[in-house]
Amino acid sequence: MAAQILSTGAVRPSAPRHFLDLSDLDAPTLRAMLTEASRRKAARAGRGGAAPDADAPLSGRVLALIFDRPSTRTRVSFDLAMRQLGGETLTLTGDELQLGRGETIGDTARVLSRYVDAIMIRTLDHDALLELAANADVPVINGLTRRTHPCQLMADVLTFEERLGPIAGRTVAWSGDGNNVAASWIHAAARFGFTLRLACPPEHGPRPELLAWARGEAARVELTHDPRAAVRGADCVVTDTFVSMGDEDRDARLARLAPYQVDEALMALAAPHAIFLHCLPAHRGEEVSPGVMDGARSAVWDEAENRLHAQKAILTWCLR
Ligand code: CP
Ligand code: NVA
Repeated sequence: MAAQILSTGAVRPSAPRHFLDLSDLDAPTLRAMLTEASRRKAARAGRGGAAPDADAPLSGRVLALIFDRPSTRTRVSFDLAMRQLGGETLTLTGDELQLGRGETIGDTARVLSRYVDAIMIRTLDHDALLELAANADVPVINGLTRRTHPCQLMADVLTFEERLGPIAGRTVAWSGDGNNVAASWIHAAARFGFTLRLACPPEHGPRPELLAWARGEAARVELTHDPRAAVRGADCVVTDTFVSMGDEDRDARLARLAPYQVDEALMALAAPHAIFLHCLPAHRGEEVSPGVMDGARSAVWDEAENRLHAQKAILTWCLR
C-alpha cells in the first residue's frame, strides 16, 4: 500500500502498526511499551477520569472500538486511555454496523480507514481480525479473539513486575483451560523470557501449533495435566474462566476443569511471595475459590487497573 497524503497534509505511513499478537512483535518493542505504561501510570498517580495526560499525544485522533462480544475492562480502559491521551473514541457493536448484514470485513476496514485513525476490534473470529488488518490503512488492535488476548498480557506482565520485579527468569503457572488468554501467556513467555508451566486437562490444552511455536522460539513453556506440579514453587499463579465466550459445552467443561480450580491448597504450593492473577470476569467457586480471589495474594484489581495504563502504551506505539 502506498504512503497516503491526508487532507491535513500529514503523511499516513504505508505500513500501519498493528497490535495483533505478541508473537508479531520483538522483545525490545514490547519492553518499551511496558516502560511507557509504567511511566504514564506514575505520571498521573491519583488522577482518574478523563482529564488528559499532560502531553495529550493523541490529540485530534479517533479510535473506533468495535465490539462483536461483551466487554467491561477492554471497553472502558480503551475508551479512557484514548481520552486521557487527548483523543476520542467511537464505540460500535457488531449489529450496529452493516457487517451484520453482509458487508465484508475488508470493505469495512477500507471505509473505516478513511474516517478514524485506529481500530480496536473484539471478535471471536481471529481470521476476521486478520482480514480487517490486511485491508486497513490504519492500525488495528486485537481486543480479544477466540485465539488470543494480547492486550491482557501487557497488563498482566506489568502487574507481575510491579509486585515482584523483572519477570525474566521467573516462573508463572497457569491452571485451567488452555484458552485465548493462555495462548497469549505462551507468546509472552517467549518474548519476556520467563518459564510458563501450563496445567490443562487433555481435552483443553493449548493448540499444538502454539507449543510448536514456543519450541521454535526456544521458550520455556511446559505442559502438564497436574496443577500441583505446575504450581509448585511458582512466582505467580494464573487462571481464567472455564467457559469462554463462544464455548457451548459448559457442563462438560466445568466437570473436566473442576480439578484445576485455584484454591488455597493449590496456592499453598506456590512460592511464599506468589501472587494470583485473573484477567476477569471471575467465577468464584469455578476456576478460583473465593478465598484466593479475594485473598491477600490476589493482584487482580491492580491487574484490571493496569489494562488502562497498558492500553495507553499500545495506542501511542500504534499511532506514533
Ligand atoms: N479481561 C477482559 O478482557 O475483560 P473484558 O471482557 O471485560 O473486556
Ligand atoms: N477467556 C475469556 C476471556 C475474557 C476476557 C473469554 O474469551 O471469554
